[in-house]
Amino acid sequence: MTVVGIDKMGFYTPGMYVDMAELATARGEDPNKYLIGIGQSKQAVIPPTQDVVTMAANAAEQILTPALKAEIGMVLFGTESGIDNSKATAVYLAHLLGLPQNTRAIELKQACYGATAGLQLAADYVRVHPQAKVLVIGADIARYGLRTAGEVTQGGGAVAMLVTADPTILALDTISSYHTEDVMDFWRPTYRTEALVDGKYSTNVYLDFFKTVWTGYQQQTQRTIADFAAFAFHMPFTKMGRKGLRQILPEATPEQQTQLTTAFEASQADNRNVGNLYTGSLYLSFLSLLRHGQLAANSRIGFFSYGSGAEGEFFSGVLQPNFRDGFVEEQLAQQLANRRRVSVAEYEQIYAAQLSNDGRDVQLAVGEETATYYLAGRQHEQRQYRKQ
Ligand code: HMG
Repeated sequence: MTVVGIDKMGFYTPGMYVDMAELATARGEDPNKYLIGIGQSKQAVIPPTQDVVTMAANAAEQILTPALKAEIGMVLFGTESGIDNSKATAVYLAHLLGLPQNTRAIELKQACYGATAGLQLAADYVRVHPQAKVLVIGADIARYGLRTAGEVTQGGGAVAMLVTADPTILALDTISSYHTEDVMDFWRPTYRTEALVDGKYSTNVYLDFFKTVWTGYQQQTQRTIADFAAFAFHMPFTKMGRKGLRQILPEATPEQQTQLTTAFEASQADNRNVGNLYTGSLYLSFLSLLRHGQLAANSRIGFFSYGSGAEGEFFSGVLQPNFRDGFVEEQLAQQLANRRRVSVAEYEQIYAAQLSNDGRDVQLAVGEETATYYLAGRQHEQRQYRKQ
């Protein structure tokens, strides 16, 4: 059977962050609650000039040459921060990137699980059509509201993945284990811009789902923890992934426990400095593992995807020999290092300055925008996207 998986990965987050120790102090909390208890050091601040379409375009542009663009036959855009209830973000994206018009372009929604749905559907499609190249996106803005318990778990950004046969980064295994249940742990009715969440309950559901799909995966494959070099978790905040790993660590030998814990530290490094990007979070964690970990080719990685509401999946893949050629390390490192720290007051202003929900014409202040793709405003109820 054709080997299919992730060929290339790009990641974009805007050029601003708020420091979590400073935010803790402003909220009257002990900084260690945010830094250690939650496990976040910096949180991406999303200006009104970036939405999920522009962030996705900025992430995709990192991995797509003009020749590759011409070959893309499908765009699957996972997001729960859509900008239109009818028209798919994938259509805007395909146009911005200049993709061929004989492309299927659709949006997928199931909270933080959307990108995983895209990845698995793309992989199945390529198994049947081995010449196909599918662009899969996970892009979101995580918003809970100022001074809420969820504020410390906000963030935003986009991950772009190219799914092909004979991939450079990861060959996906065909067996995976998934689970869906109607659960009210986190949701966002169409009239709200901030999510509603039963926070503590959501963390318990996450852990229960992980146990269920991990057990199901082992039963289907006869694999055990000994078969894995590392795990990547959906990471709404880094402590959540850490709790997930702790749940299964006792199944490993002491030596492997040390190795898996070291790999986990690599997988949380970038998420700790960006925050939650909902459906892209698992894939940012995977990228972080690739960038900061010491993984050998041919090692097997386990992935736990979780989307509130709720749907979970455990799947796996095998790292390919030249996996480091599948992303542009220098670009990722510079992007994170060059961000500007904003004060809590400035973050609050930016938070309040998002595009209004009343359909009025707006011209955004784009002077500070350095990203290739950005949102310039809204005219006649249409978002005005620009490329520089
Ligand atoms: P909270 O009530 O602010 O925090 O809410 P807490 O009191 O539970 O404290 C958090 C941790 O800090 C605890 O550690 C404390 O002990 C520790 P734990 O017991 O959990 O290990 N702590 C300290 N540590 C060191 N020094 C100190 C200190 N003080 C306390 N001084 C909560 C936390 C996560 C619930 C909240 O932020 C929230 O509601 N977040 C949003 C929901 C969320 O992220 N849920 C995750 C699972 S659901 C999911 O992943 C899906 C999602 O991504 C959405 C989607 O699918 O679309 C969210």
